[in-house]
Amino acid sequence: MTAGLPADQVLDELRTMRGGDLPTHGGRTLAYVYDSGLSGVDDLAAAAHALASSANGLDPTAFPSLMRMENEIVATAVPLLGGGESAVGSVTSGGTESCLLAVQAARDAHPEIEAPRMVLATTAHAAFHKAAHYFGVEAVSVPVDPATFRADPDAMAAAIDDRTVLVVASAPSYAHGVVDPVEQIAAAAARRGVRCHVDACIGGWVLPQLRKLGVPVPAFDLSVPGVTSLSVDLHKYAYCPKGTSLLLHASAELRRPQFFASARWPGYTMLNSTMQSTRSGGPLAAAWAVLRHLGDAGYARLASLTLESVRRIRAGVEAIDGLRVLGDPESTLLAVAADTDELDVFTVADEMTERRWYVQPQFGFESSPANLHLTVTAANNGTEPQLLADFGEAVDTARRAGPVRLAPELVTVIEALDPAQLSAEQFAGLLTAAGLDGVSAPKRMAEVNAMLAVASPRLRERLLVEFLGAIYSGRG
Ligand SMILES: Cc1ncc(COP(=O)(O)O)c(C=O)c1O
Repeated sequence: MTAGLPADQVLDELRTMRGGDLPTHGGRTLAYVYDSGLSGVDDLAAAAHALASSANGLDPTAFPSLMRMENEIVATAVPLLGGGESAVGSVTSGGTESCLLAVQAARDAHPEIEAPRMVLATTAHAAFHKAAHYFGVEAVSVPVDPATFRADPDAMAAAIDDRTVLVVASAPSYAHGVVDPVEQIAAAAARRGVRCHVDACIGGWVLPQLRKLGVPVPAFDLSVPGVTSLSVDLHKYAYCPKGTSLLLHASAELRRPQFFASARWPGYTMLNSTMQSTRSGGPLAAAWAVLRHLGDAGYARLASLTLESVRRIRAGVEAIDGLRVLGDPESTLLAVAADTDELDVFTVADEMTERRWYVQPQFGFESSPANLHLTVTAANNGTEPQLLADFGEAVDTARRAGPVRLAPELVTVIEALDPAQLSAEQFAGLLTAAGLDGVSAPKRMAEVNAMLAVASPRLRERLLVEFLGAIYSGRG
């Protein structure tokens, strides 16, 4: 039996561990985190979270405060996102859950379709492939315009058939930050009587503010005829703590198949609006508090800071010899690619890590070359001169180092691997070749990324799943 530890000691341990993580504040981590730069916001969120984290959304009649907060959040979001009188919504745990539920509801609205399909652009978030995997809905992926990276509405329209239960558009896409032509896509879906979901998980909260600031944001929300549902994450540009997203539907009728009830057991009747059953009130209360505190004026100010920053970063990156921004993003996300094969963007990412910035490697896919993703938030405002100076240095150093060149034998081995037959020994051999110990990620990733880039997407998935198994070994 182990003795319990004093609370202070436990918290000290946690602080020490967290010190080894990427920073979540200050704008140095340009993916995964969203920082308003306002310290009061985090303190408020933490206090609200603590007040409600023991309450259980499983039974809203037992915890009416949670029901009220959820309804108030939806009432705030619906007009922002073009919903009419009949629009409804649910708070979920995150973007992936919102996307999963949009697919599940669309599938279950058509029990008569035996092998349902959804039509999506190849740039749609991987959450939809997860939904396809979980719910047995075939994902029909349609290539995007090779230069703009926006979905091709005619090709998507042509892909709709009698088995299609859902069409998906992104506003914007994560990888390139561009907004799909939602009006045309939704119209094509409506002509065939098919649901159309707009994945505005990342952009939904900020795009309306950007539009007010004069950015030409195309129509993307529930006001567009044919759009039947929309997802928007509060834990992204609403600057709420992790664990909240919204799935809005144009009507209660469209939402109904999302709900689940089971009376087929002797316990309480299970009645869930989302995938979770027990649902902490913490994230919900934190989001409710942050939304009330910031208000429309607060989000307008944060969007203005973010827009200023993304414009400065874009202009600065484009001025660096050897770098270019992919497409013409109208949002707060940038994909930065190299102009020449002689500059390895994954080495640039490592050099940025050396300089204490995190930029996210994205592999080449169809017409999209390997690039670095930047999620710009309000906290980046003011950091641009240092970021750009370090980007310039990182590029110079990476250019001098030259691109990572894998040994030809290693490339042959990787190309010959069959994802379906990958053995533990083969995986261990690759880890060793990559200089990995199977426990932690190395400091420099360019070599590993070069190996992963050689692998087919299917093999890459397989290798990464093995990697996950290795790092989650259950041994502390
Ligand atoms: C467009 C889009 N959809 C869905 C998601 C998934 O959201 P989450 O990571 O909260 O599950 C993301 C996340 O970045 C996203 O950008």
